[in-house]
Amino acid sequence: MKRTHYCGDLRNEHINQEVVLMGWVQRARNLGGLIFVDLRDREGICQIVFDEEIDKQAFEKASKIGSEYVISISGIVRERSSKNSNIPTGDIEIFANSIDILNEANTPPIYIKDDDDVSENLRLKYRYLDLRKPKMQKNFILRHKVTQIVRNFLSQEGFIDVETPMLTKPTPEGARDYLVPSRVSNGKFYALPQSPQLFKQLLMVSGMDRYYQIVKCFRDEDLRADRQPEFTQIDCEMSFVDMEDVMQIMERLIAKVFDEALNVKIDLPLQRMTYDEAMSRFGSDKPDVRFGFEIVDLTEEVKDCGFSVFETSAMEEGKSVRAININGYESNFTRKGITALEDVAKTYGAKGLAWIKLTSEGVNSPISKFINDEAMNRILSKMDAKTGDLILFVADRDKIVFDSLGHVRIDAAKKLDLLKKDEYKLLYVTEFPQFEYDEDNNRYVAMHHPFTSPLDEDMELLESNPSKVRAKAYDMVLNGVELGGGSIRIHNSKIQEKMFTALGFSTEEAWDKFGFLLEAFKYGTPPHGGIAFGLDRLIMLLAGEESIREVIAFPKTQNASCPLTNAPSEADNTALLELGIGLLDN
Ligand code: AMO
Ligand code: AMP
Repeated sequence: MKRTHYCGDLRNEHINQEVVLMGWVQRARNLGGLIFVDLRDREGICQIVFDEEIDKQAFEKASKIGSEYVISISGIVRERSSKNSNIPTGDIEIFANSIDILNEANTPPIYIKDDDDVSENLRLKYRYLDLRKPKMQKNFILRHKVTQIVRNFLSQEGFIDVETPMLTKPTPEGARDYLVPSRVSNGKFYALPQSPQLFKQLLMVSGMDRYYQIVKCFRDEDLRADRQPEFTQIDCEMSFVDMEDVMQIMERLIAKVFDEALNVKIDLPLQRMTYDEAMSRFGSDKPDVRFGFEIVDLTEEVKDCGFSVFETSAMEEGKSVRAININGYESNFTRKGITALEDVAKTYGAKGLAWIKLTSEGVNSPISKFINDEAMNRILSKMDAKTGDLILFVADRDKIVFDSLGHVRIDAAKKLDLLKKDEYKLLYVTEFPQFEYDEDNNRYVAMHHPFTSPLDEDMELLESNPSKVRAKAYDMVLNGVELGGGSIRIHNSKIQEKMFTALGFSTEEAWDKFGFLLEAFKYGTPPHGGIAFGLDRLIMLLAGEESIREVIAFPKTQNASCPLTNAPSEADNTALLELGIGLLDN
């Protein structure tokens, strides 16, 4: 028998046709004289009927099948008398005239249905069964479609796909490396790439002009819902461009993906928001702009307010008092609800989360007794407060104020169910600081990476005031998730040297780490820049999923292991000996 259709493809127009289908048995119901089988393949499910009166032999074979048996059937498509509007094939059914059992199946340890509520560990252990679920198949078909759109677009725009090595030297993304020991040179290690950053810059030196790659990257970092130890980037680099060139072509790419994969139109150009504005309005460099509750600076308003916690923060350099207005939702937050928000603020370093409710009876707040009337009026007016509002305050160092209010803002919106998955708010965040101060090690580190160019107008601050230098770096943000990030690179060796000095690298250190790139830059380097998108994150958001694990075929768990293969596992002694590796016992 040769398959003629996918189960999920059959419709009214196929009525009276003879078809051959192959797939897995979702379930079989024997009603005595009639057996109904739901047969499933990648494209969907359709109903097969075995009637004892029509074909006794087929009926008898069918009475032996169980869940997840692999069968092939042939039969005639008929209109269904009791239609099922829940499935696309619900108007028809197949009257079978023959059946082959291609393979039997043990009872599966997990149900093959979308809402099966089992632990993720069990799902990952039996991932090949988990991937049979319709939702998972849909996610991977979407992923395939998106990579096709990306490849077509980039190819049409003159980008060529070049592969770069997986066994390489550490790259400058700043996470911990995965190391691979060398057998040939004992005691030496390759690093798996955190990104193809250095190689794509070399390809610009090579004159490739426009490069892209859909590529695995490896970072040994703490895992979260949107972070995996190995993940995929859509990685791009372009020569003879400035920031706007890269940003414009890449926003067209993402708009194309939305249009062709979801039929959602994205207005271009995307909003551009500076880092400072993103921080001061949303407390985050990846602002979710689907809702309001923006941060308001009250430092001036609270200077002589009477509440000492606020007054001290208002006086000190680098500290501030800021608040958000959860406007209209006062009654949605009980004291317990506010305590839960305070716990969120505390995880990000805040010492408390002061609050004011404006109820129909007036101001209700644990801090109002400390605040004089004039200051209260100034605060309420600046917060544009109305009856029904809940105002939440943090007083502290700016970093803590932004971090904690930024997260409280998101948490409140989540609790109020304001985050609509099918609403897509994209923007670019620009003018990132060049450096971040690393308090543990008392030095500046590159916020993006050490090859990122400063803004021309900030170049002279490199030596005098590094903390004020802004970079030619940009992130694309979608619904509060950093979708991609990139920059214009330094192509002038003098500036590169200044950069290393500002980062506290000696010339020797810089050459030891990145010498091959610095050497290459001596032989004619075009101005260049690029970007990389997190493909898994993009698909996660397009599929309406909460975790990138739902769009990666064989992902790792929170502790970076694989329940299916049991990786990582011990290596045998001979292999270790060959690598010159001995294990410490602890
Ligand atoms: P960056 O480090 O910002 O830039 O990474 C680019 C994008 O990759 C995604 N991403 C991740 N996705 C899943 N799991 C992870 N652990 C993970 N880490 C990063 C994010 C992020 O925006 N070489 C530069 C790009 C450039 O400058 O051109 C780079 O890698 O979506
Ligand atoms: P306390 O005087 O410590 O009882 O605090 C009174 C209120 O102010 C409580 O609601 C605290 O959560 C809040 N609070 C304390 N410290 C801060 C702070 N640094 N920022 C914002 N609110 C605070």
